[in-house]
Amino acid sequence: MSDDSRPSPAGTRTAAVIPAAGRGVRLGPGAPKALRALGGTPMLIHAVRAMAASRAVSLVVVVAPPDGAPEVKSLLDAHALPERTDFVVVPGGDSRQESVRLGLDALPPDYDIVLVHDAARPLVPVDTVDAVIEAVREGAPAVVPALPLADTVKEVEPAAAPGEPEPVVATPERSRLRAVQTPQGFERAALVQAHETVTDDVTDDASMIEQLGLRVVVVPGHEEAFKVTRPLDLVLAEAVLARRRLNDGF
Ligand code: C5P
Repeated sequence: MSDDSRPSPAGTRTAAVIPAAGRGVRLGPGAPKALRALGGTPMLIHAVRAMAASRAVSLVVVVAPPDGAPEVKSLLDAHALPERTDFVVVPGGDSRQESVRLGLDALPPDYDIVLVHDAARPLVPVDTVDAVIEAVREGAPAVVPALPLADTVKEVEPAAAPGEPEPVVATPERSRLRAVQTPQGFERAALVQAHETVTDDVTDDASMIEQLGLRVVVVPGHEEAFKVTRPLDLVLAEAVLARRRLNDGF
């Protein structure tokens, strides 16, 4: 057994919060993104199983669409989930940030490490989850899994007028950039403090910790932890699942 697959050492308990309250409009019309099927199973169930696959995670808090908590609860009840993990469903908010905060509010006091994981990343491997937890246990207030970029990134300014091209203002050095995934891992107290003090709109939780001036570190991400955002991502996700089934001998 690797160090990463240990259950929690005495005194540390890890919970995962899964914000799943978004509509996912970029995927096109239909059910909320988290409830879309992947290999016949809702994406959210894959994401919950991915967190519960870590022996360190003993509680998963799912943040449902504001009016969808009963439906999400029934969904969790209808699918096989590991017995050693507890599950809670709470209604979410208007923004991802608010949804995460509502998930944090639902945590019992005895959890001191929190993962925040997008429902839209259903296929993250357990080794990535464990690596994030391990880095928090080793003392980082915030940990993000991340990958180097294939594309060069340009910073642009808004176009002078609608329909005009956007002027490029800078090209950050690609070798220093990382594409950040989830689960992101946190010392609970740091994440709670961040949610109490940072009011700017953010696109990931770790940037709130950066704004507090606390240390955020990177561990290697995984190509299968990609976010299902556009229709083509669903095709890729189905292919990854098919490959896993083949490899697992299903
Ligand atoms: O929109 P985006 O893909 O960045 O959303 C990331 C995650 O945040 C998704 O899992 C989505 O369900 C969640 N979210 C949420 N509450 C919102 C908006 C998004 O839980 N109000």
